[in-house]
Amino acid sequence: MITRYTCGTPVETYAVTADVPEGGALQHFSLDSREPFTFSCRLGADDLIFGLGETMRGINKRGFRYLSFNYDDPYHKDEMPSMYGSHNFFVVDGDRTFGAFFDTPARVAFDMDSAGDGTITVSCEAPGLCLYLIDGTDAYNVVKQFLGIIGPSFLPPLWAFGYGQSRWGYKSDKEIRRVADKHRALGIPLDYLCMDIDYMDRYIDFTVNGHRFPAMTQYVEDMKTKGLHLVPIVDAGIKIEPGNPVYDEGIQKGYFCTNREGENFQAEVWPGMTHFPDFLRAEVREWFGEQYKFYTDLGLDGFWNDMNEPAIFSTEYRAKTAKPDAERGDPVQPERHIADFKDFFHRLEDGTRVSNYEVHNIYGGLMTRASGEGLDRLLDRRYLLFSRSSYIGAHRYGGIWTGDNASTWHMLRQNVYHMPSLNMCGFLFSGADTGGFGGNAGRELLLRWLAVSVFTPLMRNHSALGTRRQECYRYQNPEDFKAVISLRYRLLPYLYSEFMKAALRQDMFILPMAFGFLGDETARRIEDQLLVGESIMIAPVLEKGALGRKVYLPEPMTEVRWDGEEFRCTGADAGTREITVPLNEVVFYIRKDCLVPVAKTTAASTAELDLSDVELLGTGTTYRQYLDDGYTKDCSLERCTVLQKEP
Ligand code: GLC
Repeated sequence: MITRYTCGTPVETYAVTADVPEGGALQHFSLDSREPFTFSCRLGADDLIFGLGETMRGINKRGFRYLSFNYDDPYHKDEMPSMYGSHNFFVVDGDRTFGAFFDTPARVAFDMDSAGDGTITVSCEAPGLCLYLIDGTDAYNVVKQFLGIIGPSFLPPLWAFGYGQSRWGYKSDKEIRRVADKHRALGIPLDYLCMDIDYMDRYIDFTVNGHRFPAMTQYVEDMKTKGLHLVPIVDAGIKIEPGNPVYDEGIQKGYFCTNREGENFQAEVWPGMTHFPDFLRAEVREWFGEQYKFYTDLGLDGFWNDMNEPAIFSTEYRAKTAKPDAERGDPVQPERHIADFKDFFHRLEDGTRVSNYEVHNIYGGLMTRASGEGLDRLLDRRYLLFSRSSYIGAHRYGGIWTGDNASTWHMLRQNVYHMPSLNMCGFLFSGADTGGFGGNAGRELLLRWLAVSVFTPLMRNHSALGTRRQECYRYQNPEDFKAVISLRYRLLPYLYSEFMKAALRQDMFILPMAFGFLGDETARRIEDQLLVGESIMIAPVLEKGALGRKVYLPEPMTEVRWDGEEFRCTGADAGTREITVPLNEVVFYIRKDCLVPVAKTTAASTAELDLSDVELLGTGTTYRQYLDDGYTKDCSLERCTVLQKEP
């Protein structure tokens, strides 16, 4: 059962698509309705809290504070209050089981029992919010009801589930081609390459640097014949440069955010001073979406939206602040930049002006919506779109990646924690920078990280300018990397099918153990094992130097060991076991009475993969496989066929 409780004067966020009735008296929480609106609730001693999407720390959010205030901060410490997205939904699981979605684009502070006295406090800043409360039989049931009211996930094409190679610093078409050729020569599967800001003319959106990429249309075409897609980055700010048609039109039509005086607000991002498109207005979104025609005319069908929190280096009012010292471990607190967000204004559809501060958290998500709606008009097939900033609702238009993480074991573990939490908030198509963005990834870390990314929908190796080159072939024994990435391609008949089924029935694709084994107290608290679709459980190695790990099996399962050549399946009893996992192998589990269809051979790219030519692993008897051509927009569960395992 879902009810809505309205407080103050909410601003439209477009998160909820269903018509949810107003519920009368407030349930579960008590409310102090002075601003900020403060909701409190008591927890039972054993209650866990799930949700909050892209926040730091573990899957159980209890015991800490979090903040929803989208922010660009590359130092992902546990203490970091907010990341790039705001996902204000959580589930209390225990004495009482209920979900709460605080739907507001303004700042929200969550104190999830940080004092340890059993109190949750949620403070929502003005002007108001809709609180959706969901009662259900268990935490998973509550999440499914929530996913039911926010609309279905974005559906990427099949190729977007392939392996992607990216790096900030690829300077030219030749360099990217060399990276691709190296993968092909070594037999490391690859489906796409990202083009970071250097493909642009002076970092200006909707341009191509003609010296570095002299024949882009031909280049895109050539790469496609090799089964490779190119994915350009698009930043939120439009460079202030008269003569640039996008800038000129934006100025002429009044499409940019303004300052206090009503002039266009100026902020420094990669191209220098820019204006921010006012994505809160439908007319501006439509205009921005149309600009992607520049890319689709070049034959591109994958896009990467960035700097849309929005990220600001300096403004007309504030000089550039020095980046914090990573060694000191001092995260940039959003507090230091609040003035920036109070300095610029949006115009809502009804003509009212609001500061970005009041509607801050929907800005990036509405950029995704603008581009997604534009691309839907421009392309008759599915495309890849992922964004850094997000708000719930943006999951209908694109995926997300979790921003500028680092090459550390801690961030690998965080990637594991993020996946189920993001799924609970609708963001099924997500992933982290595999190998880590900042810092230098060693061989062991990258191999272990790839073994996790094999199971995340977005599987992209991305790293920052100035860090150690992170392409797999730069490391000793590239065949080990090939072995791990090949598993992704062998598993795609299953992963693609499970993703599409989950998206189409508005369900989760990656789940915490707690959701799969209701009533099992050990499973309920495990954070480093996950369920991927309905048949697979993973237990990745997340520790440096570890030869393997301890795995908990709530039920008897099939243990599958992949060594780059073949799958070796053995029965595994319920209980705890120690496993050894060499760096070039991956171990995963198939649940009792379940099946996993795997491709009979691996492939250089998804273009070569036949998803219907499969063998079935596991002890089940039937599997419902979703199949399509990988591009069609006409997706429905009716495309599922039943596979039977020969006795
Ligand atoms: C931001 C992005 C990162 C990108 C860089 C340069 O830091 O998060 O992925 O490589 O900008 O465009």
